[in-house]
Amino acid sequence: MADAETISFPQNRTCPYHPPTQYLDARRDMQRPVAPARLFDGRKVWLVTGLAEARALLVDPRLSSNRENPAFPFFAERLAKSSLRRVELLGVDDPEHNAQRRMLIPSFTVKRTAALRPQIQQTVDGLLDRMIEQGPPADLVGSFALPVPSMVICALLGVPYADHEFFEGQSRRLLRGPAATDVEEAREALDDYFRELIEQKRATPGEGLLDELIAKQLETGAVDHEQLVRLAEILLVAGHETTANMISLGTFTLLQHPDQLARMRESDDLMPSAVEELLRFLSIADGISRVAVQDIEVGGVTIREGDGVVLSTAASNRDDAVYTAPDELDLGRNARNHVAFGFGIHQCLGQNLARAEMEIALRTLCRRLPELRLAVPAEEVPFKPGDTIQGLLELPVTW
Ligand code: HEM
Repeated sequence: MADAETISFPQNRTCPYHPPTQYLDARRDMQRPVAPARLFDGRKVWLVTGLAEARALLVDPRLSSNRENPAFPFFAERLAKSSLRRVELLGVDDPEHNAQRRMLIPSFTVKRTAALRPQIQQTVDGLLDRMIEQGPPADLVGSFALPVPSMVICALLGVPYADHEFFEGQSRRLLRGPAATDVEEAREALDDYFRELIEQKRATPGEGLLDELIAKQLETGAVDHEQLVRLAEILLVAGHETTANMISLGTFTLLQHPDQLARMRESDDLMPSAVEELLRFLSIADGISRVAVQDIEVGGVTIREGDGVVLSTAASNRDDAVYTAPDELDLGRNARNHVAFGFGIHQCLGQNLARAEMEIALRTLCRRLPELRLAVPAEEVPFKPGDTIQGLLELPVTW
């Protein structure tokens, strides 16, 4: 890999809704949809920024998601240094992955998610009632964008929402850091929490996915106790941290594109494509990591066994070979085929749920607060660093 052309990954965004220019330049200027890049520790990896290449690689069994492989590429020292590398589902290859995923699929189908819509609407309405009652200004992250998915995933799993401050705080530590000890302590705290909750539920079963998994998978020996603890943890963390960022950053982006916001307000039929376009445009999970377990020829390069591969969903979703004017937000476009939820065997399990939450949250917010606007200049809205899920730390709004 040529040093002069090596891009560093990850980089912080300079605008919260645009990927770093260098990622885009790799494909556009350098014509390298699979380009050499360097991680925080100087390690060379391949950065994928072409949509066709990303989709081909994400279905390729020669790439592994196993974080226990010593060559697995991490984005930050805290993640690489943590001794707790085992991750169920997301970090497991087939056939083991398939067995785990099959247990969960029935709870995340389009039909099961559609049945949750009235409950999601009720959650959204309740939170907006409270926000409106308290009056402006408000931090939309704390009072709306985070509690919506947090309450929904709690209800789905059967986790008490009363514990939300604890698990939201530990999830933040797990994902953002700053040290390896944070990652380890947060994992241990969440493990302990779920160990206890599972024991309580075994004694007094309730209603929720976790209760179902205890009855159907744990008691039959299909999963062991520790695996179930870690599966529950992934579902809880993935279920609230991601969607919260889409709701807050989605709102901010719409406020910065008033023409598109007006289009959305005018036509309810636009909602499904608006959600898809926001997913493509924002690509908040920017950086899917894999390690090659065999040599692969792709995009004019040879990825060697043991090489790390990092897929920029944000750059791939701005591929001008696929999308016209990809840097423009166009809520009416057909944005399907994006890789904001990944692709292949690990493609987001919660995507139907995330779409439903985004649609209901954004539509209701726009309807009930037609005067919604930023309470501070846009440049002062704080956003997350490049080495984690992208999104806003706070969103001060008024109406
Ligand atoms: C808009 C919000 C969301 C985004 C952008 C998102 C993004 C992603 C991405 C990119 C992956 C693939 C990771 C990889 O291939 O390594 C993934 C996997 C996953 N997501 Fe999501 N996600 C979102 C919401 C959710 C929700 C609400 C849940 C609910 C539980 C969820 C649960 C999962 C799980 C369990 C996996 C692992 C699937 C597997 O390995 O088979 N996600 N997500």
